[in-house]
Formats: sequence, structure tokens, C-alpha cells
Amino acid sequence: MKKEEIRKKVRESYSQIAQRNLSCCTSSPSCCGKGEAPKIILPSGYSESDLESVPEEAKLSLGCGNPIIFSSIRGGETVVDLGSGFGLDCLIASRKVGENGKVIGVDMTPEMINKARINATRAGYSNVEFRLGEIENLPIADNVADVVISNCVINLSPDKERVFQEAYRILKPGGRILVSDIVFQNEPPRRIRENLRAYVECIGGAILKEDYLSMIRKAGFQEVKVLDEKRMIDDSGVEEEYANEFEISLKDARKVAESLLSITVYGLKPYK
Ligand SMILES: C[S@@+](CC[C@H](N)C(=O)[O-])C[C@H]1O[C@@H](n2cnc3c(N)ncnc32)[C@H](O)[C@@H]1O
Repeated sequence: MKKEEIRKKVRESYSQIAQRNLSCCTSSPSCCGKGEAPKIILPSGYSESDLESVPEEAKLSLGCGNPIIFSSIRGGETVVDLGSGFGLDCLIASRKVGENGKVIGVDMTPEMINKARINATRAGYSNVEFRLGEIENLPIADNVADVVISNCVINLSPDKERVFQEAYRILKPGGRILVSDIVFQNEPPRRIRENLRAYVECIGGAILKEDYLSMIRKAGFQEVKVLDEKRMIDDSGVEEEYANEFEISLKDARKVAESLLSITVYGLKPYK
């Protein structure tokens, strides 16, 4: 699949999701690009106190983890969220950085950016900004961020190495990256890799866990470690759905389901 074809399809899918205010929950196997029924969610790991300042209409997550709870965000810090979606993580981070801090959400889907801006404005958040752009070419200067977060987005990038290089570039020395994402324990069947729908649903573009961690290290990050890891799918009923949707055998579908992990990873940009 060509990179531009992937990007176009991903953007189209998230545009539709934004327009229909769709969401999903993190226990869903294919939460990212699917979400057939709109629902307000309280994704796992989000504390009630984090969510109490967030307007109801912004409590929509397409994430697969919770980078915020591991980020130890402090007052006055600058936080950048790669693939900010409806803006939930940005709004939570906004309260943590306070009036002397700043939060920047970046997303390539104009309809997502619009929704996130409306959510932030309605809630009166003045220290959050949403910028339209690709995470492979961040519209952000060098060495400005204290923290880069991302929740279930980098698997969707056809150029993941570049994303980690960009995250490294915009972080100040001593800054940290906290990403939640979907990875595989074992390589899935080729049909999954060739299926655009699987890609949009955050499965087809997910890479092996060890490759993911290597890419983060290769970008220059140190002290790279997995802070949280869980199986994406605990519902065996999904096998049949995968088998039909991705035209693979039930046995392969089972292997795919067992192999999908949600991880949250930390990395540090060292002082040189
Ligand atoms: C699965 S959703 C996650 C949204 C949000 N992080 C959350 O947890 O709810 C993926 C988001 O990333 C955006 N996205 C995907 N690929 C991107 C890219 N290459 N550059 C910028 N945004 C991207 C999509 O538009 C979508 O809003």
C-alpha cells in the first residue's frame, strides 16, 4: 500500500468519525476506525477528578491507553499531543499544566481539529491550542515541549520512524515522551497487512513490540521502558468478526487477537 493512499484513507475515516461524534471503548479490538454507535465513555484509567473539568461532549476517546497518568505533568509545562482527536487528553493535560503552561494538540483531520477547538472553547480552556498538521512533519518549533504524549495514533502512521524523530526534535533536552499504542507480539498474516480497513482500525499498521521500542531508541531517546502493557482483546468472540472482515482463517484470527497488545512507553530526550 502506498503511503499517500494510507494517509488519505485514515483521514477520510477519522473525518467521518468526527462528523458523527463516534467513540469506542478501549476493550474493543478495533476501536480506532470503527465505532458504530455514538457513546459517551469513561475510558479505562481516567480518574474522576481528571474528567470532572472536561465537558460531556469532549469525553470521547479513540485511545487504547492512558499516557496522561504516567506523564507526571507539572504546572507550567508545555505538552504536545500527537493525533489529538476530540481533544480529551489535551483538556485533561490543560488543567495539569495550569495557566502558566501550554498544551498543543496536532491532528491531520480538519473535522477533528474543529471538534477539539469547539470543545476547548466551550469549556473556557485558554491554554490549549489545536493545530492542523501531520505528526510526521509537526507544525512546532525545535526544543519547545517538556512532554510529548500520544494515544493510539502512531500505529496509523505509514512513517513511524519519522514520527519519533519529530517528537525528539520538538522536545527540550530533558523532555519526555509517553505514548500509548497498539503493537503485535507476533507478526500477523500478510492479509492483515494488505487490508486498508484493518489499517484504519489500528491493526494493520501496528508493528512488533520490539520494533516499536527500537524505533524510539533509534530516534535518540534513552531510558526507554514499557510502563504498562495489556492484551487489547479479552473477548474471544472477536475471532469470527476478524475472520470475516479480513478474510483470514479462524485460526489466524485467533492468533491475531491473542497477539495484539496495548502498551504505554516512556522515553527521555537526554541533555547532551
Ligand atoms: C485512533 S484516533 C486517537 C485520537 C486521540 N488520541 C484519542 O485518544 O482519542 C487517531 C487520531 O489521529 C489522527 N491521525 C492519524 N494519523 C495521523 C497523522 N499521520 N498525522 C496527524 N494526525 C493523525 C486521526 O485524525 C485521529 O484523530
